[in-house]
Amino acid sequence: GSKDNGGSGDSSKSTVAKVKETKKLVIGTNAGYYPFEMIDKEGKMVGYDMDVAAAIAKEFGATVEVKQFGFDALVPALKSGKIDMIFAGMTITDERKKVVEFADSYYETGQGVMVKSDTDVKDIKDIDKKGKSIAVQIGTTGAIVAKKEIKNAEIKEFEDFPAGALAVQQGQADAIVYDEPAIKVYSLQNEGKVRALDGLLASDKLGIAIQKGDDETVKLVNKFLKKYIGSDEEKASKAKWFEN
Ligand code: ARG
Repeated sequence: GSKDNGGSGDSSKSTVAKVKETKKLVIGTNAGYYPFEMIDKEGKMVGYDMDVAAAIAKEFGATVEVKQFGFDALVPALKSGKIDMIFAGMTITDERKKVVEFADSYYETGQGVMVKSDTDVKDIKDIDKKGKSIAVQIGTTGAIVAKKEIKNAEIKEFEDFPAGALAVQQGQADAIVYDEPAIKVYSLQNEGKVRALDGLLASDKLGIAIQKGDDETVKLVNKFLKKYIGSDEEKASKAKWFEN
């Protein structure tokens, strides 16, 4: 049925039931989305999402196993049961809700724009011109927004945010449209090379994606999020990853 999940075995059980049994929560993510998921010097996936995932796993007596995918491969991976949940700063959209469930949003943000520092670009309109190009990550809401809002510039799709951001930094794209937190971290780390424009093009409510039809898991994750968000543990995680 709709709860099929090869990730942790028996498909007749809810994800939480299987996680409790196998003591393992298999999550899918896509690195390079600062400060939610990134690979540290030791090759470990770290960030705010990884802390939330670990806390949820712990709640169900399990530990996390992280699998890395292209961002556009995450929903198919969840659908086919390769993973139990998606922790990837994924925006809750009607389109995605047709194929997966989302727990209540745990973070609100929006689409920012980042350009090279040494330009006088003030607004995305300044680069919505023939001969200009805008970088996006394949499969993201940033890609959708850019395609909708930008009529004249060329849209260049990149595999992940760091690749698109580097293209901007090196002058191979004139701007990138992407979630504001990642732009903020990147532009602070590359001060003098790239900068964020003021304002947001759209708003995004991020959520954890769960198998379609698994209402029991959605309910339990929501219950957990209610006590976790705003807790001392969560505040410490936020301070660690968001306050530079
Ligand atoms: N919030 C945006 C979306 O859902 C971008 C998320 C990108 N996440 C990532 N882990 N690369 O489309």
